[in-house]
Parts: sequence; C-alpha cells; structure tokens
Amino acid sequence: MELIVRNARLHPTDGRAGEPVDVAVEGDRIAAIRPRGQLKADGATELDAEGGLLSPPLVDPHIHLDAVLTVGEPRHNASGTLIEGILTWAERKRELTIEDVKRRARQAIHWEVAQGTGLIRSHVDVCDPKLTALRALLELREEVRDLVDLRLIAFPQDGILSFPDGPELMREALRLGCDVIGGIPHYEWTREDGVAEVHLLFELARETGKGIDLHCDETDDEQSRFLEVVAADTMRSGMQGRVVAGHTTAMGSYNDAYAFKLLQILRRGGVSIVANPLDNIALQGRFDSYPKRRGMTRVKELDAAGVNVACGHDSIMDPWYPLGRGSMLDAVGMLVHVGQMTGRSELFRAYEMVTTNAARAAEIDVWRVAEGCPANFVVFDCRDEAEAIRLRPAARWVVRRGKVVAETEPARAVVISGDHRTPVSFAPRG
Ligand code: FE2
Repeated sequence: MELIVRNARLHPTDGRAGEPVDVAVEGDRIAAIRPRGQLKADGATELDAEGGLLSPPLVDPHIHLDAVLTVGEPRHNASGTLIEGILTWAERKRELTIEDVKRRARQAIHWEVAQGTGLIRSHVDVCDPKLTALRALLELREEVRDLVDLRLIAFPQDGILSFPDGPELMREALRLGCDVIGGIPHYEWTREDGVAEVHLLFELARETGKGIDLHCDETDDEQSRFLEVVAADTMRSGMQGRVVAGHTTAMGSYNDAYAFKLLQILRRGGVSIVANPLDNIALQGRFDSYPKRRGMTRVKELDAAGVNVACGHDSIMDPWYPLGRGSMLDAVGMLVHVGQMTGRSELFRAYEMVTTNAARAAEIDVWRVAEGCPANFVVFDCRDEAEAIRLRPAARWVVRRGKVVAETEPARAVVISGDHRTPVSFAPRG
C-alpha cells in the first residue's frame, strides 16, 4: 500500500453516518476498504480523516471557463440581467488573448480542485473567428491533466444560424479538439432557426461521434420549447445517454400538462438535465414583478420521473454572475434551497447531483468509492453528505489517481469569554 486514509466515513446507506473505515490506495486504484484498524501501514503514507466523509470527487458539469474572473471588465453589469451580461461579454471578448484566458481559467480550476472537484466540463464560446478562447483552453486541458479531467464543449454563445459562419466555426472547433457539441437554440432569431439549430447539432454528432451538451430554454418564456425537439432528436438518432441539456429554466414556467409530457420523453430519451441555480436564481424572473418566478428547472420532478439531473456552477465572477468561488457545494447548497429539497433523503439525493449524476451526464462510468475503482476521492471535514451541503467544509485532501493534489487545513474557531476559550465546531454534537 502507498496511501492509507484512516477513520473515514463512506456514503451511509441507512440515512445515518456509516461506521468509520480505512481506505488503502495502491498505484492509481483503491486496493482495500476495511473496518477501522485492520490495515497495516507497512510504510504507507497515513492520513487521519478523524471521522470525516470520504466522497467521490465533486463534478462540475457546466461552467464557462473562458469568462471566469472577468467581472468589471470592461465594466460591471449594472442591471445584473442576462442580456447585459451577454452584451458586456461581447465587449470583453474582443480583448481575449491566449495568456489572458489561460491565466484566469487556471486560477478558477485551482479554486475548484482545492474544494474537491475532479471533473470539469466547460463551455467555450466559439463565436469568434479566431477561436482564441478555445485554443487557450485546449492548451490548458493538457497542462492540468494531473489535477483534473477537463472536457470542453463548443458553445455558440451568439447562436449558430444567427452568427456569421456559425456552422463552419462549430465544425472548426470540433476539428481542433472540442470534446462535446454545444448549442443555444432559444437564442436564435426565430423559432424555426432554433429547431434547425437542434437538428444541426445532431448532424454534427453523426459526423463526429461526439456527444451533445446544449444550453436550452434558458428563459422564463413558456413558449420556449426546444427541449422537446432535443428529446425527439435524441431518440430518433439513438443517442440515449449522450445528450445533456443545461439550464432549461423555461420548464419552471410551463403548464403542468405540458411539463408532464416533456418529462416522459426526456426519460425515454435518456437526456440528462443540468440545473445551474447560482446564476439562474439571480438572472431569471427579471421580467416579473410579483409573484416572482424562481428561475430553476423542475429538479425534483425530473428526478422523480427518472431523468438524470445534475447541478453546475456555471459562472465564477463573470459578466453574468459577479459572485462565486468555484465550490460545487455552494452550487448544490443553492439547488436545495431553490428546489426545496431540504427533506433528509433529498439532501443526500442532491449531493449525487454534484457527484455520480454529474459524472453520468459527462459519460464517465466509474465515479464511486469502491475496491478496484480509480483512487479518486475527497476527504471532507464533515460527517456526511447532508452536513457537507450545510457546512461547505474544507476538502482536507483531494486525491487523484492515488496522489494528493490538494489539501486544506480546516479553520478552527474559538469563542473567547474572559479566561474561557471555547472551540466552536458548527456541529450539534459539540
Ligand atoms: Fe451556462
């Protein structure tokens, strides 16, 4: 054994924190998981989890790394609206250089890895004749290989049919090495163009063999109904399990009868849905007075209908969202609030939306902690998944292919009253 994590808790099966175990790593695999104290060290590096949660790495299935950390450049988004974000980004985009994109994206990746993320799928705006952001992120994908799996999605921010040479730019982006085909049908000029864009995405998929992950119906317009076209095309082209639709916030505005039909064809099509509650709780409902819509897709209902649902971070300090620190626990924390998933089992279910479900959306098979699986995991300073969402604890160690790639010393608070110093743990057990 090369590494042993002692006194760790794995995912509890009965809704309560499980008994502590020791986890041994050999090479890039989990070699053994045994009740505490049964594994001999024999010179292995030992880490004491102190009863903390040992989890599969977090997954961010939806972020825009080309835009991260550009907030305020060239100006702040004063209204905070989606459209002012897009217009501000159009200005900033003209100033992009390879080094600029790599520096900011690298920093954001470090933030995510330090907080336990092991797989990132990033959209890259390809509405740029020079494809500068894409060229930068393709280089970075190789550079960060030892830290994180980075997958790139060719994302036509300004539309494909509504942007000059849109289809050619998409093909060029895929030729250069984008992993996944993106899209944005609701942003095309007409409904017909949006439908044609969806068909084009599936044509590109046939040509290249790549999966699809499009922005879809990110609006409060209940007439925005491209997701049904996505589901139908998925079934007709036999791409079940290879298609992801992000945002889909219009589903929060559909009538229940239509939503019911949509849930059925999404499940039959095996289409994954990625909610992005950090951005969308801030961006949607902007045309409403009161009552004001929540602006998130129907997470709970999709999950209950058997659709694979995941949760993304979407933005970190960019023209659309000035906040964010690259924590997938922040993202899922927002999801359980906006989606009202605070029931005990719902908290554990929500955690899967930033781990196993998100990995499934990214077409990764093995994303669990078990003997023989790749040694990719995080040790958090908390007891279980529900507590991880509540506390957003330190990721004490982030392990990738058997190697520690990030570590965090948990903050230790003390309340001082006269001569008394009382440690504060934020756990009810004291
Ligand atoms: Fe997005």
